[in-house]
Amino acid sequence: TGLKPPVIIYLSSSSPSFQPFPNLSQLSAALGGLSGVPELEVEALRPVNLLQERNLLPPRPLEAPEPNLTPDLKKVNCSPQTFRCTLTSIPQTQALLNKARLPLGLLLHPFRDLQQLPVITSNTIVRCRSCRTYINPFVTFLDQRRWKCNLCYRVNDVPDEFMYNPVTRSYGEPHKRPEVQNSTVEFIASSDYMLRPPQPAVYLFVLDVSHNAVEAGYLKYFCESLLENLDKLPGDTRTRVGFLTFDSTIHFYNLQEGLSQPQMLVVSDIDGTLMVNLKESKELVKDLLTSLPAMFSQSRETHSALGPALQAAFKLMSPTGGRVTVFQTQLPTLGAGKLQSREDPNQRSSTKHLGPATDFYKKLALDCSGQQIGVDLFLLSSQYADLASLACISKYSAGSVFYYPSFHYIHNPAQLEKFQKDLERYLTRKIGFEAVMRIRCTKGLSIHTFHGNFFVRSTDLLSLANVNPDSAFAVQMSIEDSLADSSLACFQAALLYTSNKGKRRIRVHTLCLPVVNQLSDVYAGADVQAITCLLANMAIDRSISSNLSDARDALVNAVVDLVTAYKSNVSNLQQSGLVVPASMRLFPLYILALLKQKALRTGTSTRLDERVFAMCEFKTQPLQQLMRMVHPDLYRMDNMSDQGALHLNDTVVPQPHLLHLSAERLSRDGAFLMDCGNVFYLWIGKCCNEMFIRDVLGCPNYASVPPNMVSETNEHFVANLLKASLFFSLRDDASAKATFFQHLVEDRSESALSYHEFLQHVQLQMSK
Ligand SMILES: *[C@@H]1O[C@H](CO)[C@@H](O)[C@H](O)[C@H]1NC(C)=O
Ligand SMILES: *[C@@H]1O[C@H](CO)[C@@H](O)[C@H](O)[C@H]1NC(C)=O
Ligand SMILES: *[C@@H]1O[C@H](CO)[C@@H](O)[C@H](O)[C@H]1NC(C)=O
Ligand SMILES: *[C@@H]1O[C@H](CO)[C@@H](O)[C@H](O)[C@H]1NC(C)=O
Ligand SMILES: *[C@@H]1O[C@H](CO)[C@@H](O)[C@H](O)[C@H]1NC(C)=O
Ligand SMILES: *[C@@H]1O[C@H](CO)[C@@H](O)[C@H](O)[C@H]1NC(C)=O
Ligand SMILES: [Zn+2]
Repeated sequence: TGLKPPVIIYLSSSSPSFQPFPNLSQLSAALGGLSGVPELEVEALRPVNLLQERNLLPPRPLEAPEPNLTPDLKKVNCSPQTFRCTLTSIPQTQALLNKARLPLGLLLHPFRDLQQLPVITSNTIVRCRSCRTYINPFVTFLDQRRWKCNLCYRVNDVPDEFMYNPVTRSYGEPHKRPEVQNSTVEFIASSDYMLRPPQPAVYLFVLDVSHNAVEAGYLKYFCESLLENLDKLPGDTRTRVGFLTFDSTIHFYNLQEGLSQPQMLVVSDIDGTLMVNLKESKELVKDLLTSLPAMFSQSRETHSALGPALQAAFKLMSPTGGRVTVFQTQLPTLGAGKLQSREDPNQRSSTKHLGPATDFYKKLALDCSGQQIGVDLFLLSSQYADLASLACISKYSAGSVFYYPSFHYIHNPAQLEKFQKDLERYLTRKIGFEAVMRIRCTKGLSIHTFHGNFFVRSTDLLSLANVNPDSAFAVQMSIEDSLADSSLACFQAALLYTSNKGKRRIRVHTLCLPVVNQLSDVYAGADVQAITCLLANMAIDRSISSNLSDARDALVNAVVDLVTAYKSNVSNLQQSGLVVPASMRLFPLYILALLKQKALRTGTSTRLDERVFAMCEFKTQPLQQLMRMVHPDLYRMDNMSDQGALHLNDTVVPQPHLLHLSAERLSRDGAFLMDCGNVFYLWIGKCCNEMFIRDVLGCPNYASVPPNMVSETNEHFVANLLKASLFFSLRDDASAKATFFQHLVEDRSESALSYHEFLQHVQLQMSK
């Protein structure tokens, strides 16, 4: 359309420097409290001809569809933010599932931060004697003394202790116990759930101090952040910490209480005494963090012995387990695990080398996992560092990966800001140690494949050396035996972990869904976002095990298959065109959006490490976050009227409508907000209402808005508005614009189809 956005502003929550628009606080309350309306079942089945219907978006962000259950079951079911299934009506047989041509799987965010969590302390944790399922709201009580398991149908006795309800302090009401009233609960576990005494919180920081690291300048910010958050590290009086720095050699630090100052050691004979009690050695730790940045500021050492440093870290941590946090700024060049560049600088769009170059990092990660050590990687590198190989250290030890391409403390303030925000969250977020997660499901269903960062211990059991509240998992399922015996299917995820206070705990989530035998019911209950996320995970695996074009074809075929199956088996419509059930009307759009993501796109220049990082994110981000990254929410902000507004008590709250992601929807007289989950953009048109500019940006008019303005918005506004972590870019305005426009996924780009062209492509594929 030739429309040039004059100003793009990244909003940042860092400094409250302007007065928020008076109405924005209302708006933020509205957006924060907005809940989309789940679609009615009748609507979900309405055939939608995609070639004719253009306005497909709901007014508000799409919510998870509600399973078709009785109100009682609905009320107690697990939150979709924790546990979601791609099909909220489970097909009775694999044959029916095959017919639907939709994937069956779970999206799980098991350790997310919760406001409310019933914690149960009791001598007996009631479980099915046959399949070990934890008692849950979906079991049936045959009488006061017997309950029937909802997963394997065995009849179990109710133990005496269970007859007493600690919440109501009454006897004889087993069905009122919190375990059977809440589908998410946490048990304090007894010693039966321990292989050894629970470990304390142990944190080791492994820091790159090579010349390259000094140039990038991250160390000072890391030390500052850790100093600031030292007392907020999750743990208790037993918490231990240690530090290790490396360039071509490895340096250890003796921080034993009683020393007058930290001692640097370059030894080969290391032992556990280098991990010190944080409380006892706090002053020495502070000393070290204060002096570290200066210690290496003159370093000329360009080599990086990351592999040996990780091996040393493994040795230090083996006796206890715990968390290793690695900061790396370049390709490792020395010793075990050294790597060579595989990126051809002349061929940025290459889609080769998506897998690791060596199994060194995977093997070490498996050793770590065996000793309950999780390894998290912060990669801050402007050059290719082979993330495909390095990420294995976190992937198989249940760690997290953070990546800051072209990190530089002066030249790239946006990355620095993001790094600081991420670090603060990282250091202070909840953590669980020596964890395992088991997924059980109703007899007949079985687990096919897991996605995420973990080590698979057995078919239904994941080893998680560490568990954090920001990581999610996906699980592909299949139907082995007919589910005809029951009208309900249940899934239970049980996460057994050691809290940072050294307590064994079990967090249990149970999800209940109806079983159906009609294809139309399967479609009516399809959860298009969950399906998209599961397919995204599958596509990542496929692009590594096969190749990228194969993975992309599979995604397009998923759309072709759905349209074909729906047309021939359900819709009974003779009309031509692309017809899908309303529940799946956004499917082709979401798939197109997936194909345009860094992880899966072709054509456009995508650096190898950036692609690999995007792939890592697909595998570990929770659904809500991933969907906003793939298909952001776009709103017009400047002309919200009271028409159609919510009336909350006496306050009128205007409600902006979601807009399609196309430049056609932007106009010069408007202001538009794009919510991408971890970043959001405010796009301001040239002829935008001056009152809005004045009130929101604190500038008298459009002309006075600096072209590179970074709006550091009011903390409260941002917190309420998007509840996201944000960052802004000051200098690379052009790249900000490019990024903004890349998110307009319905538009054609140099190398990718527009939405309309994509539909035509699907139609063409169908006729083949
Ligand atoms: C909201 O903004 C409008 C102008 O857009 C103004 O007329 C109105 O008084 C504001 N309402 C409140 C409650 O501040
Ligand atoms: C547990 O369930 C009961 C009954 O449904 C409910 O009143 C209570 O708020 C729930 N507890 C929590 C912590 O969610
Ligand atoms: C990708 O993999 C598919 C299936 O294995 C194969 O047929 C195809 O030739 C491969 N394409 C490329 C570009 O390697
Ligand atoms: C259902 O759709 C599939 C896929 O298009 C097709 O192979 C099958 O024959 C159809 N079945 C019926 C009963 O129409
Ligand atoms: C805002 O402007 C757009 C484009 O002119 C228009 O379609 C929309 O109805 C307006 N919204 C309100 C609430 O006036
Ligand atoms: C509406 O008023 C009730 C009672 O005064 C209060 O509890 C509730 O929080 C208010 N709702 C909103 C959205 O302000
Ligand atoms: Zn059972």
